[in-house]
Amino acid sequence: NLVVLGSSDSIPVCSLWIPLSVRSVYPICMTNCPTLIVTVGLPARGKTYISKKLTRYLNWIGVPTKEFNVGQYRRECVKIYKSFEFFHPDNEEGLKIRRERRWTITRFAEQNSFKVFFVESVCEDPDVIAENIVQVKLGSPDYIDCNTEEVIEDFMKRIKCYENSYQPLDDVLDKDLSYIKIMDVGRRYLVNRVLDHIQSRIVYYLMNIHITPRSIYLCRHGESDLNVKGCIGGDSGLSGRGKEFAKCLGKFIEEQNIKNLKVWTSQMKRTIQTAEAVALPYEQWKALNEIDAGVCEEMMYEEIQVHFPVEFSLRDQDKYRYRYPKGESYEDLVQRLEPVIMELERQENVLVICHQAVMRCLLAYFLDKSAGTELPYLKCPLHTVLKLTPVAYGCKVESVWLNVEAVNTHRDRPENVDISRMPEEALFTVPAHQ
Ligand code: G3H
Repeated sequence: NLVVLGSSDSIPVCSLWIPLSVRSVYPICMTNCPTLIVTVGLPARGKTYISKKLTRYLNWIGVPTKEFNVGQYRRECVKIYKSFEFFHPDNEEGLKIRRERRWTITRFAEQNSFKVFFVESVCEDPDVIAENIVQVKLGSPDYIDCNTEEVIEDFMKRIKCYENSYQPLDDVLDKDLSYIKIMDVGRRYLVNRVLDHIQSRIVYYLMNIHITPRSIYLCRHGESDLNVKGCIGGDSGLSGRGKEFAKCLGKFIEEQNIKNLKVWTSQMKRTIQTAEAVALPYEQWKALNEIDAGVCEEMMYEEIQVHFPVEFSLRDQDKYRYRYPKGESYEDLVQRLEPVIMELERQENVLVICHQAVMRCLLAYFLDKSAGTELPYLKCPLHTVLKLTPVAYGCKVESVWLNVEAVNTHRDRPENVDISRMPEEALFTVPAHQ
């Protein structure tokens, strides 16, 4: 399990207590103990962004992670935020609250024997700082009912209060700590003492993300011949309506006039045929192939119920973890898609033409959906493009149906998932097909 800790409020915490406690206690590498990731840096350096994004990624790859915002503890103590003066080094009340909080966190870390990994963001570019304040601080609970100018002015003064006491991670003093120092939003990095696999995954991830504005377009292939028959899997070509969708997708993409758009497909006929109608070069990814349904490939749900009723109910009991005999589970699929996510993080505008189960996994990553309950049931209808645009701490989703009818392939979880259920109960949610 991991914990990501972040917020501007954590700065004085870290800068003051690292030399005393963490610098001496935490270098000891303990095996089999949870990791505490502490994001540090002056205000408006993207700590909350990094914490939230990292938490989302780690949860998606299957490492249960929780995020805490130290500023929230301060808000709980000081119910109403008045002004930057709370953070002034001479403000006794502020110091007292921050000192208490510092000890709570120190105790928390010690009692749980965490391995501590620091992520420090260093940035002096005034444009980046100003953009960050506008993007995320305007909506902060500290600034309800304030106008933009008031927020910027107060926040800049708040940064000044911290500047005097802030101590960055130090090459010599902190040589035994595990950390990554991110400079100028990823222009340079300094990585120190990476102790284990998870820390190296964190470093790798943080070195691949960027904040350049862009959009990711996700869609499925056009309706296939097997979709029409209600069969899963296989490698059939597009139906008449599927071909019509491909044309409309080409037109839609052209109209969007997207700068340097990359197009990715799987290695399956139906996504390649769809991409052929888009007037752009495309790249085929084997990792984007549809979930392998093993012994159930090319079967209708009705046939699976007849031939493998127990398997069918086991899948309904835990659709995320269930692995088809000789095939894959959604959990396997997420692991297979991790390099795709990493490359999507590196890229700017991308259109991904993929498949239902694959699209669910990708969508769950961007929208922070839980693996067990939400991911395998996300609605990804045919002939619909989802445009995902990163905003502040999340993603804006726009759904565009391209006005070409298609069969529904979404089967909801039936109420009765017991092995002893009647066939009609198992088939109750199967969508209509030919
Ligand atoms: O098996 C292929 C389907 O596209 C995934 O559908 O996981 O909801 O059964 P399902």
